[in-house]
Amino acid sequence: MKITFCCTGTEPEPWLAGLRAALPQAQVELWQPGAGPADYAVVWAPPQQFFDEQPQLKAVFAIGAGVDALLKLRLPAGASFVRLDDAGMAVQMAEYVCHAVIRHFRELDLYAADISQGRWTVHPSRNRADFPIGVLGLGVLGQRVAQALTHFEFPVNGWSRTAKNLDGVRGFSGAQQLDAFLAASRILVNLLPLTIETQDILNRNTLSRLQPGGYVINVARGAHLVDEDLLALLDSGHLAGATLDVFRTEPLPTAHPFWRHPKITITPHTSARTLRETSIAQIAGKLMALQRGELVAGLVDVGRGY
Ligand code: NAP
Ligand code: GLV
Repeated sequence: MKITFCCTGTEPEPWLAGLRAALPQAQVELWQPGAGPADYAVVWAPPQQFFDEQPQLKAVFAIGAGVDALLKLRLPAGASFVRLDDAGMAVQMAEYVCHAVIRHFRELDLYAADISQGRWTVHPSRNRADFPIGVLGLGVLGQRVAQALTHFEFPVNGWSRTAKNLDGVRGFSGAQQLDAFLAASRILVNLLPLTIETQDILNRNTLSRLQPGGYVINVARGAHLVDEDLLALLDSGHLAGATLDVFRTEPLPTAHPFWRHPKITITPHTSARTLRETSIAQIAGKLMALQRGELVAGLVDVGRGY
């Protein structure tokens, strides 16, 4: 069995060593243009040339959860595509989102500013019932985030394509329930995959429907958000702020207004990182399962886009 590794922006050696240790029966090689045919591929942002040269692939394993960039390429017709299914990302996403919510709700930036000016001021406490949170996307990451937020006793709403029934989470589903979901939410967390249906979903129309003083946390993809619509709603005062981890162009260009906006906190696409050892173990397990003809979690529906 041959496995080819083609992950742009990733130091290959530790991955190659890890895959060889986990799958000692396999021949695992770093892809080079013109390399011979492989059975399986482990990829992140491969060039089109990679798939053009490997039409025989049986399965392709992405070392991330989102496959939007992969699905833009011309793909080998007979291959299955498998994404990471949690692999240590859900807990990271839960801690990042809970931190952003609590920092906003408890006005920790205001306290930090006071303290930096030598002011000992206690501000009126806020009622968490006035800060209902809406989580867009109730998949592997969204469910974990929604459930983590319920532990802090915030009202939590969730929106997905198909209906979900999660403890402590008020479920909304489908395009017809999006407006009701937004109207019931003040803090909005985006954990949707980027697809034709979800691109630009955070726009003037949808964000205006959030309760006044809304707050946006985008941890999915930059192309979900219409940047200028967010800026306009922050400037009008309808939105109180935003925490953004993902951007249309990454790294975020130095002249972009998000860098310096007083109501926006940015981080460099770091909310849920791929953990190498856990991911290798998951990929190796799934590869063996596929070889035995079994179904695996995280199979991508190419037509649906996630
Ligand atoms: P997932 O398990 O595939 O979950 C996707 C969720 O979105 C599902 O609940 C799905 O509904 C819902 N959805 C998809 N299309 C929809 C639509 N048109 N309308 C309503 N709901 C829709 O994905 P995941 O593993 O949770 O990851 C989510 C995304 O997070 C990834 O695609 C990636 O872009 C992003 N991500 C970011 C980072 C980071 O570091 N910033 C790290 C990892 C992942 P159904 O359940 O009904 O199918
Ligand atoms: C990271 O953004 C991922 O999709 O895993």
